[in-house]
Amino acid sequence: MPYEAAPLPAIDPERTFGLAALYTTTPRTADFDVLDLGCGTGSLMERIATLTRGRVVGTDLSQFACTRATGRGASFGSRYRVMCADFMDLDPTELGQFDLIYNIGVLYVTPPEVQKRILGLIAACLKPNGVAVISYYFGAHALQMAGLHERLCLSVDAAAPPAVQVQQAKACLRDIAKSLARREADNKSMLSVLQQAFMREDSVFFHEFLSQKSTAPSTSSLEIALGAGGVHFLDWMTPVPVGNLALPHERAAMADAIDLGGGGYHYSVFSKSSASTAASPRGANVRWHSRLVRGAGPNGQAVFRDENRGLTVTPNLVTEIALDILAEGPRDWNTLHAAVEKKLAAQNKVVKNATSVLEQELLTFWRYGAGSPIWSPQK
Ligand SMILES: C[S@@+](CC[C@H](N)C(=O)[O-])C[C@H]1O[C@@H](n2cnc3c(N)ncnc32)[C@H](O)[C@@H]1O
Repeated sequence: MPYEAAPLPAIDPERTFGLAALYTTTPRTADFDVLDLGCGTGSLMERIATLTRGRVVGTDLSQFACTRATGRGASFGSRYRVMCADFMDLDPTELGQFDLIYNIGVLYVTPPEVQKRILGLIAACLKPNGVAVISYYFGAHALQMAGLHERLCLSVDAAAPPAVQVQQAKACLRDIAKSLARREADNKSMLSVLQQAFMREDSVFFHEFLSQKSTAPSTSSLEIALGAGGVHFLDWMTPVPVGNLALPHERAAMADAIDLGGGGYHYSVFSKSSASTAASPRGANVRWHSRLVRGAGPNGQAVFRDENRGLTVTPNLVTEIALDILAEGPRDWNTLHAAVEKKLAAQNKVVKNATSVLEQELLTFWRYGAGSPIWSPQK
């Protein structure tokens, strides 16, 4: 069933490489090569091709999707290529090596042997220090979705056209919702999953509830599978306070622990490097952006706010100086650090551990979404 997704700027290369730069210091060039495993109709490929001068390769099983994806790339010439094939038949040598691999909306709708193959392709096709973005549902919510998937698959005539199957499954969904509603207080979380399922556009509904498989991979299971190929978990794209952990398996376990308390959708970032370090804001080719705006607290003291996130920061001196500098525009670590030191000296202020205070503050803003490291290509 045709499925069309709008590309998501939040996973653009500048943001993905920006996150990776917190863990790995390798500079990247503007000519990075990108692979989209399960490219669908190519909307992400088209966007990416405008952001790099390197190769953009997409693969998908669906002939219909590949024809559309190919059509979108006409103006990019031979560096843009769509391969219509099953993951199981793809030859990593033929695909080549990539700086960035996307696998968006695919892993959790494929059976285990295909998942294994996808992870194998990612490990085989990433260049050293290359980065992969994999999306998946997580947590309790995702497990309930997987249960619902099994039930709904049994409720439809698998030989009927997809649109008819969607109608049959949605009728079953209504029946389940009706019976759960009798004990609403006990079934709140499942009812919310049903409600969200019901609101899905038909094509997305079909992919997520009537495809062959629906699973909720844990971040640790991906870290283990990819780790065997030298690819390790860095962090989630969506900033959340995961903690300042140095080892990939520690970060993955922490991610799982957080997932248990809720549910949602991750864009997880992995890298072909050991990345056995905690996040550091000093990454190469990264500029720090702040969304915090200066204001005044009830007693007239300086506060910085990010209205969109409902976040208020009462800064220490180092933070106040740094946020004022970032308000003028993005800065790389070296420039920001030097400017903060200069202002402290001009004010005759000595702050113990000013450098590590600045490092920690930048990471905290990033974790709460109030600041971000954005990669910009080498000149
Ligand atoms: C939900 S769509 C996501 C498409 C795209 N990544 C996006 O975000 O819009 C899942 C895609 O995976 C592809 N797919 C599923 N199984 C596959 C397989 N075994 N080999 C290649 N592609 C497959 C489907 O054809 C479909 O285009």
